[in-house]
Amino acid sequence: MKILASALSIFHLLSFCGGYESIHSYTPMSLVTDSAAIDQDLHVIHLELKKETQRGWTNAEKIYREGAFSKPVAKILLNSPLEDDLPAKTTVKGVDTSGFPVSGTLFKEAKVDERELMIQYDISEVQANYVNCQVGGNPAPNVGGCFNSTGNLTVNGAVLPYDYDIYKHNVNERTIAHMSIDAEEKMWKCDNCPFPEYQMFYNYFGEFNYADRILTHAFRGEQTYLKHGNMDFGYYTEYALTEFLHKGMSYLNIWMWTIRQMEHALAECEESKLDEGVHYWDEAVAFYTGSRSLIPNRDGNLIWHQAMLRCDEFMTCGPNADQRDEEPYVNIEAFKHFNEGQLNIVNGKCKLARKNKERIVTMMLIPLIQGNLRYSHIIAHEDKFYEKHGAEATLYALATLPFVHDCNPKNAEIIYQNLKSKNTANVDYTAVKQAFEGTYECLNIKCYEIGGIWEKSINDYKYDAFPCGLRDDTAFWMVIGGSAGGLVLLSIMGLVFLRMRRTKNTRAKTIESLEEGDMEDIPIGGDSDKVIT
Ligand SMILES: *[C@@H]1O[C@H](CO)[C@@H](O)[C@H](O)[C@H]1NC(C)=O
Ligand SMILES: *[C@@H]1O[C@H](CO)[C@@H](O)[C@H](O)[C@H]1NC(C)=O
Repeated sequence: MKILASALSIFHLLSFCGGYESIHSYTPMSLVTDSAAIDQDLHVIHLELKKETQRGWTNAEKIYREGAFSKPVAKILLNSPLEDDLPAKTTVKGVDTSGFPVSGTLFKEAKVDERELMIQYDISEVQANYVNCQVGGNPAPNVGGCFNSTGNLTVNGAVLPYDYDIYKHNVNERTIAHMSIDAEEKMWKCDNCPFPEYQMFYNYFGEFNYADRILTHAFRGEQTYLKHGNMDFGYYTEYALTEFLHKGMSYLNIWMWTIRQMEHALAECEESKLDEGVHYWDEAVAFYTGSRSLIPNRDGNLIWHQAMLRCDEFMTCGPNADQRDEEPYVNIEAFKHFNEGQLNIVNGKCKLARKNKERIVTMMLIPLIQGNLRYSHIIAHEDKFYEKHGAEATLYALATLPFVHDCNPKNAEIIYQNLKSKNTANVDYTAVKQAFEGTYECLNIKCYEIGGIWEKSINDYKYDAFPCGLRDDTAFWMVIGGSAGGLVLLSIMGLVFLRMRRTKNTRAKTIESLEEGDMEDIPIGGDSDKVIT
């Protein structure tokens, strides 16, 4: 029985592998180029926000809500009512604006006597030209490959004349806003729900559509009304919120949706629907990387790219998380588990695939924790307050606080108090660092996976930003910081340990030749701190 099963799965693999373009080291077994294109929405949103005009702002919100590049559907009005029912997935053919053939399938069934057809465009396996109809909320719509504005559709041999507004009635059935708006239905109420990470976020924020609420209030410059983690975006100008909005869409909405696709894959796996399971798993990979990461210039705006930026800063690139300028450890590890997980699902080993999913989620969390540390450190050391850094810090806090809170509410409160929206540079970096470190064990994160903030000019970590556990005292802080009631102890022991640290510095790895105390004098900050990423 076992042998037969794996023989079958090999056959399965072989029969699938032919057509699909690889996503880095992962080869999808199903068509997900359209899912990967969600990052084109983000890309144009970012460009619009960066214009810093009212029009750009409005355009950005329109793409956020209406989409532009992912899952295009034409809503076409026939000249006369249908004579038969047409089931969902029925093939529809026509011509585009240049007279070339274009085809799709019915997105939902159309009944006799109805005139409207919703036709989902067929998608190509080649990422670079996955679809050539990109309208929705797109400020510069591409209608080249859309059904022409008038013409004839061919459905089951019948010729159906039609007429529609090509700019208004090509819509997108996948939008960044809906990843949050639909979350209650897709992550809370479904079978096998609620999904564990989503539940943490719901518990913390107290709203199913927390991400859409946060972004909507940010677009309006208002304060949020959540259970925990409230922010007042009135502190920030539109300029400061540019990065917040674009990253919020990526690391709140799409980030959680990526996990949802893995959970969905596992649910299908449990029901022995292995093909469906693999498809959702493939989609998770597409949402992790996006399409722009496949362009050789290492571009991107999803977690894959965030891992790239952060590993250079925290010296966590390479297979051992101890290099700069290499593939991020986080991506190497995530892709190892994406590949293993795919094979596990193909083989119906759903429990093993769940382990893969858990490890991937941990990897997805690391760059966001590093983002908290980076911006806390920048703000804590800058002589004047840059509201753009403040706004970034609030975003990283929002994206990670539910995890910290789930481990230890007190640590979450310390981070929140330091990083919540305000108009001062009042951030205690060491407090934030220790509050995170106190939860690493609970989060299954190792100190070396987070790394420390690297200072190129001294070829060492910044003096107050070492990886935990690397210097003698930090492991202690982790244990104390992580336990309930530890905070009192922490403050009592703090002074004692600061003294001990002064005399025990010799164990430090790379600065052995420096005299004790030298590290304290090295100025931090400098121009590199002001780089916005
Ligand atoms: C597309 O529609 C326009 C008018 O709506 C028409 O003039 C044109 O000939 C059509 N093009 C093709 C290729 O059918
Ligand atoms: C649609 O089909 C009708 C007849 O079947 C034809 O007269 C008409 O020219 C066609 N329209 C287009 C735009 O091809």
